[in-house]
Amino acid sequence: MATPVAEPTPTTKIAPLTGIEAWKALEAHAQQVRGLHLRTLFADDPRRGERLTVEAAGLFLDYSKNRITDETLRLLLELAHQSGLRQRIDAMFRGEKINITEKRAVLHVALRAPKNESILVDGENVVPLVHEVLDKMTAFANRVRNGEWTGHTGKPIRNIVNIGIGGSDLGPVMAYEALRHFSRRDLNFRFVSNVDGTDFAEAVHDFEPDETLFIVSSKTFTTLETMTNAHTARTWLLKGIGGHQSSVAKHFVAVSTNAVEVAKFGIDTANMFGFWDWVGGRYSMDSAIGLSTMLAIGPESFRAMLDGFHQVDEHFRTAPFERNLPVLLGLLSVWYTDFFDAQTLAILPYEQYLKRFPAYLQQLTMESNGKHVTLSGNTVDYVTGPIYWGEPGTNGQHSFYQLIHQGTRLIPCDFIAFVKSLNPLGQHHDMLLANVFAQTEALAFGKTPEQVKAEGTPDWLVPHRVFEGNQPSNTILAEELTPAALGKLVALYEHCVFTQGTIWQVNSFDQWGVELGKALAQRIIPELESKTEPKLGHDSSTNNLIRRYRKQKE
Ligand code: F6P
Repeated sequence: MATPVAEPTPTTKIAPLTGIEAWKALEAHAQQVRGLHLRTLFADDPRRGERLTVEAAGLFLDYSKNRITDETLRLLLELAHQSGLRQRIDAMFRGEKINITEKRAVLHVALRAPKNESILVDGENVVPLVHEVLDKMTAFANRVRNGEWTGHTGKPIRNIVNIGIGGSDLGPVMAYEALRHFSRRDLNFRFVSNVDGTDFAEAVHDFEPDETLFIVSSKTFTTLETMTNAHTARTWLLKGIGGHQSSVAKHFVAVSTNAVEVAKFGIDTANMFGFWDWVGGRYSMDSAIGLSTMLAIGPESFRAMLDGFHQVDEHFRTAPFERNLPVLLGLLSVWYTDFFDAQTLAILPYEQYLKRFPAYLQQLTMESNGKHVTLSGNTVDYVTGPIYWGEPGTNGQHSFYQLIHQGTRLIPCDFIAFVKSLNPLGQHHDMLLANVFAQTEALAFGKTPEQVKAEGTPDWLVPHRVFEGNQPSNTILAEELTPAALGKLVALYEHCVFTQGTIWQVNSFDQWGVELGKALAQRIIPELESKTEPKLGHDSSTNNLIRRYRKQKE
């Protein structure tokens, strides 16, 4: 192993993962479990489907359809203990700088802490700061929602465009879609993220500039895509409004940690909503980055969402690991990633409003745990973050489920469903939920050749119609997709990611892997725009692509 390069942290006292006793025991144990079928596990324990469930904060998790035994669970929980998960959770909630590469605390949990709590960062209680910003957001949201905040020509705001990318986009757009039922239908919300000009052009094509408010959301306020879109938005506004520079103050607000850059852009910092370096971009949808969410659903519902987050934070912080939903979810994903060679994990919400939830989770999970170096700076010798992907049900059933049912890969699935529909129409909801239960049943138990034959299938067709089964899944059931329920669901996955990252001993809170591409793009932009033929110093493929693009665009 390479020499450690990171500064020492409490976590570095823990043995390398593959040297941990529970890990070694799991390696041996996995050999036995791999041969076991879920049919056998259920047949041997008639109460398994009731036993392997847990409920907290209004979320019900059925994890019985996983390829685990009681011994697997015992060992996974032991792994969590031996990995120092308890200490690391405490360290996060205490505001310790567990993001060691950026020397930052990791305190998204402070964003939803009640007013009377105290969480210290460098000796300062940050909870009052959080509530100050929430109050400022509330006052602003109320003014926009009741028409008091008017645009340059005195008209109320009807269109709200959030400009941001990554965590400054995916959370807001996901939450807007998820909570659309609770949103003001007379306000139009659009989200611009891509530097592809089409994104901006399509977002505003039917908007009047004097009724449009832009929220420029960027933690750093230097992100290429966001700043390019923000400048384009300003040009569009000024063009549509007769060039009055003073209109910018009425049509632009900012959400950022960088007041200097906000002011440079021309946004009055009185109209800036702040947050802090201890909020990671992908953990920021409940900070001021959620301003568009608050404008859509109103301050009261936004606070209900925060309360949902907080309930799961408290559960994660205090519940014993064997009844701790995020811990169990995290451990199960480690089980499949490291002991079953599962490459991916599917997120399957049976709730149309959660259509952007898998995309949101992709950043949360993969930017967090897509790491190959431990906190001590050593290269891992095990697999870390799986690929998260998914689509809402039942649509996925008619496209990619075939591969999960009868392909050659193991794809653990998380099914997410709600008991009540926000749009109860005839039989729709029973049909939807019947599909959730049917899919998890089919995945787990499949269909044997005997069963297929008994249906009168000709022999030659039997192999094609057999379902191997033994495909694991979790089912997460909640009552109804309310703002609070959304907060709970997001917090569940945030802490699941934390659990995974702790076991894998990686820093789930930095993202150095996105830097190289960004830097190279900055070098290539002038090469594409240069009036004269630039001297190119890339590899032959990149040089050739640049030359071809330059030639064809002429
Ligand atoms: O993609 C890298 C990243 O830094 C994300 O982590 C972040 O959410 C996104 O870019 C946007 O950053 P910012 O909010 O600073 O514009």
